[in-house]
Amino acid sequence: MKICVIGLGYIGLPTAAMFASSGHTVVGFDVNKKVIEALNQGKVIIEEPYLEEMVEKAVKQGTLRASDKPEEADAFIICVPTPILPDKSPDLSYVESGVKVIIPYLKKGNIVILESTSPPGTTRDFMGSILREAGFNPEEDLYVAYCPERVLPGKILKELRENSRVVGGINEKSAEVVKNLYKSFVEGEIYTSDATTAEMCKLMENTYRDVNIALANELAMLCEKMGVNAWDVIRFANKHPRVNLHMPGPGVGGHCIAVDPWFIVSNQPETAKIINLARNTNDGMPHYVFEKIKNLTSDVDGVRKVCILGVTYKPDVDDMRESPIIELIHLLTEDKIFETVVVDSHVDYEGSKDRNLYDAAEGAHLVVLAVNHNEFKNVDFGRIKNAMKCPRVLDTRNFWDASIVEKEGLEYHLLGWGRHKR
Ligand SMILES: NC(=O)c1ccc[n+]([C@@H]2O[C@H](COP(=O)([O-])OP(=O)(O)OC[C@H]3O[C@@H](n4cnc5c(N)ncnc54)[C@H](O)[C@@H]3O)[C@@H](O)[C@H]2O)c1
Repeated sequence: MKICVIGLGYIGLPTAAMFASSGHTVVGFDVNKKVIEALNQGKVIIEEPYLEEMVEKAVKQGTLRASDKPEEADAFIICVPTPILPDKSPDLSYVESGVKVIIPYLKKGNIVILESTSPPGTTRDFMGSILREAGFNPEEDLYVAYCPERVLPGKILKELRENSRVVGGINEKSAEVVKNLYKSFVEGEIYTSDATTAEMCKLMENTYRDVNIALANELAMLCEKMGVNAWDVIRFANKHPRVNLHMPGPGVGGHCIAVDPWFIVSNQPETAKIINLARNTNDGMPHYVFEKIKNLTSDVDGVRKVCILGVTYKPDVDDMRESPIIELIHLLTEDKIFETVVVDSHVDYEGSKDRNLYDAAEGAHLVVLAVNHNEFKNVDFGRIKNAMKCPRVLDTRNFWDASIVEKEGLEYHLLGWGRHKR
């Protein structure tokens, strides 16, 4: 088939590359010219293992290219962003433009797939009405389906192939046709359903995780008050065969877990009570950590220098979207008693990329392990101690071994561990 992919980001580009490597011809369209230029040279502008190799090969073989406008095709796959507005309601403007942009190229018998994570009803009602206005009867003229992604950044290509997926059609025929298309490269099970069930399924997958992380964060805050180590509680509780407590942390970020539950809350605010509370608990974590930092440095006279390790929303990726660490840094910089210096080789956040950890720790009153990037695992705690003015660290991820850190003469503080009562 000839497939036209709209939106070549973390989801659209790997999906395009997979189809192009599975016997289809793929043309990608993106509003960002840099993405188009890079792709046509066989390059990618995002960090994702093995993606560039795959793209380069497909471009060389002539099965993948990008264009500055969509083209006629057998199937259109829309992978545009679906963020939230400041009032936490869904912003469907990208989906709207992503559907409208294909209208001039759409013919009867075409397949139209939405991959973007979307509020319930987006495929059938929102997309359906745009298609209807353009003169199509979606049920009869086209095959329309919602086919969400479950991939993990850092393992996208592997998971695109191996994960099971759900395809929600606006009718059974659409679901079957789209299922067959994805069978080109998906080795996991492909389940079919209706579009709104599939939309709700995707939202609940991330909501499940968000609610469980909120529970872990509440546990961490409780344990700090009780003088208990939350990480031990979790470790031992999870020995129970039917318990799976999640891990606490300085907040929840990314384009998915920190966003998707709001789609349910804004759709059903009266009923989605736990989901709403969990979102607010997780959104409150940067502030909680900020207060902790304030407390841990309360003995410092004058400006308190805090060295932050990691700024992305999760380890070993170059993605800062909705990162709680950015919120934490804003809180620290707004408060004039703090001076912050950030280290993160994955992204350039105010010089973070090229900064040496030990130079950054020079004269610091606190080092905060904010993101558990691999690069921070085996740091030289002796060197950190010698560089710092007050030798103390705050580990927000249970990433470091307290005994190793303390052996080097640093004071070790862990989020969720009520050991040090200051
Ligand atoms: N990144 C993930 O891990 C992940 C996982 C599952 C689901 N999703 C969902 O997939 C969707 C896409 O996410 P992403 O991470 O790929 O986003 P992204 O920001 O990386 O990519 C989106 C791309 O779409 C382009 N774009 C925006 N409007 C466009 C338009 N009208 N026409 C053409 N291109 C347009 C942007 O320039 C960008 O390159 C979102 O709904 C997201 O929630 C993402």
